[in-house]
Amino acid sequence: MSDGDGELEARLVEQEEFEPSDEFVEQANVSDPGIYDEFEENWPDCWERAADLLDWDEEYETVLDDSNEPFYEWFSDGTLNASYNCVDRHVENGDKNRVAIKWEGEHGETRTYTYQDLYREVNEFAAALREMGVEEDDVVTLYMPMVPELPIAMLACARIGAPHSVVFAGFSAEALATRMNSADSEYLVTCNGYYRRGDALDHLEKANEGLDDVDHGVEATVVVDRLGDDSFGHDLRGNQHDWDELVDEQRGERVDPVERDAEDMLFLMYTSGTTGEPKGVKHTTGGYLAYTAWTSHAVLDIEPEDTYWCSADIGWITGHSYIVYGPLALGTTTVMYEGTPDYPERDRLWDIVEKYAVDIFYTAPTAIRAFMKWGTEFPERRDLSSLRLLGTVGEPINPRAWKWYYKHIGGEDCPVVDTWWQTETGGMMVTTLPGVGNMKPGSAGPPLPGIDARIVDTEGEEVEAGRAGYLTVNKPWPGMLRTLYNNDERFVSEYWEEYSDPDADEWVYFPEDGAKIDDDGYITVLGRVDDVLNVSGHRLGTMEIESAIVGVEGVAEAAVVGGDHEVKGEAVYAYVILEDGYDGGEEMRGRIIEGVEDAIGPIARPEQVVFTPELPKTRSGKIMRRLLEEIANEEELGDTTTLRNPEIVTDIQSKVQGD
Ligand code: WT7
Repeated sequence: MSDGDGELEARLVEQEEFEPSDEFVEQANVSDPGIYDEFEENWPDCWERAADLLDWDEEYETVLDDSNEPFYEWFSDGTLNASYNCVDRHVENGDKNRVAIKWEGEHGETRTYTYQDLYREVNEFAAALREMGVEEDDVVTLYMPMVPELPIAMLACARIGAPHSVVFAGFSAEALATRMNSADSEYLVTCNGYYRRGDALDHLEKANEGLDDVDHGVEATVVVDRLGDDSFGHDLRGNQHDWDELVDEQRGERVDPVERDAEDMLFLMYTSGTTGEPKGVKHTTGGYLAYTAWTSHAVLDIEPEDTYWCSADIGWITGHSYIVYGPLALGTTTVMYEGTPDYPERDRLWDIVEKYAVDIFYTAPTAIRAFMKWGTEFPERRDLSSLRLLGTVGEPINPRAWKWYYKHIGGEDCPVVDTWWQTETGGMMVTTLPGVGNMKPGSAGPPLPGIDARIVDTEGEEVEAGRAGYLTVNKPWPGMLRTLYNNDERFVSEYWEEYSDPDADEWVYFPEDGAKIDDDGYITVLGRVDDVLNVSGHRLGTMEIESAIVGVEGVAEAAVVGGDHEVKGEAVYAYVILEDGYDGGEEMRGRIIEGVEDAIGPIARPEQVVFTPELPKTRSGKIMRRLLEEIANEEELGDTTTLRNPEIVTDIQSKVQGD
């Protein structure tokens, strides 16, 4: 460790459990250990506690409708509006002047939206959407970076009952087109650009390229002008509108929030799976909002008075649930930051924490590993004493990174919640309740109250404590995905087929993660067991990357695996066979990287491209990925006797190590 405090580190290493301070527990939203039993005994009615955090237009009678498993419905006879719950009711309750969104641009410019400001902006943009022809249930695609107009557009869509589909701004034009095509989305809200490490990025160019590949008519596009004088000067096309002009025309307009059925779709979010085609995860209004509000309350311990900051991008589920919907439903102040953590310097995040006196901070292990690498001098420059609670999400966190975070960011005074969940679960599933349980670095914790998560073997039998197995969820929960958009069949086969026994009426959700459990019921998530990589906390399908590489001229075959990476967690390793007559040199490598960036985006960029005349295959012709992973990690190789072509292995090995 670079902190020179060896003694304390040694103590931290020995100490397996950390207790939340009495001071934290006393003020915590949830501090009664009885909550676990209470939820178990009253299941599913326990979930009324989550639904009670919301204002319903029509109160629900039924908590859970399981008449058509696994297509569960929650609070299904109730009605509500998510925008009303995240905005209007706080204005009506006397909190109109409380700050809803505190935004900071990369250059340090700030924008502050009170709940009243948000109310006005959301209404005006909702009116603009209506004016453009958006009707209830039309899917509106939002391809936007971290600008305040993104949550405003999400809430405006929710207000008029138009589901949004946010596409991460770092994704490519092709990825945008695929998602718009899949959702039959005829409306796009985008941005002319944004800033990254001081440079203006041309986002509209990418958006336009994507639009050109949409295979149905696009009714209208709205473009936010983030760049001003730095704009790349694209003329707006015929059906493209400037956000400011559009909203100016709607000054003072108010749009009644549409009364939505609890089970009406709130949004779609595409995520990577095992096949090449991304899955459109469908989340609904009542269950999702109740669940994100509840977990924001119980796990993130958010109070309206807090300044809360999740450093994720809204383009991923973390940002949907824990920058926008959960925190705003609770009426707190949520911070949004546009840029990177190391611009202009490596203390940028701590500068923001100090400046706004952030109470709660939620980030990803990949970021923590980068902070560790940069050293303690950066957090030490800033006053972080406002922090009360820390959280992580996205990938397993190793105990060393956990302890670093606990000590150097939290000052050994803030509980750390390591929260396991997924795009599909809508919100947190496995984590300690910070006001109730002790923390064990490296282990997410027990399943949340009301969540029945287990670790099972391939037969579905629970494994002994300490043994590795598969994580399953044996009861439904309100935040769960309802289906994959337009693909009920794939929904069942992806998540329910593996461990359910429909004849016995037993439905078990399989998240495709490996895990183990200890004697106290704490779960340590080990990682994906399917062909999905987790690069910097982002999910990437190996198939998607492979098909991008095979699409490059001259490539005959490709296999992609994850190799260990100090900061990213996993990095993309691509093994490539070229067609005859093509040379595996720098030019080819460059074209392959470009091909991946064009198909998916820079996040999927291969760390290494290894050219090989053959891939290690079993006698039945299956690529042996395990072996390719071992080679990437320079590990000792396992059994190669079942290979048809064992001689290729040493050849590939020497190439990887020679690089
Ligand atoms: C996958 C879900 C949930 C928002 C961000 C990612 C991995 C997530 C943890 C954690 C170990 C974790 C799992 C999961 N994961 N959180 N605390 N410990 N692994 O959402 O893109 O849907 O990815 O991320 O492998 O299945 P996602």
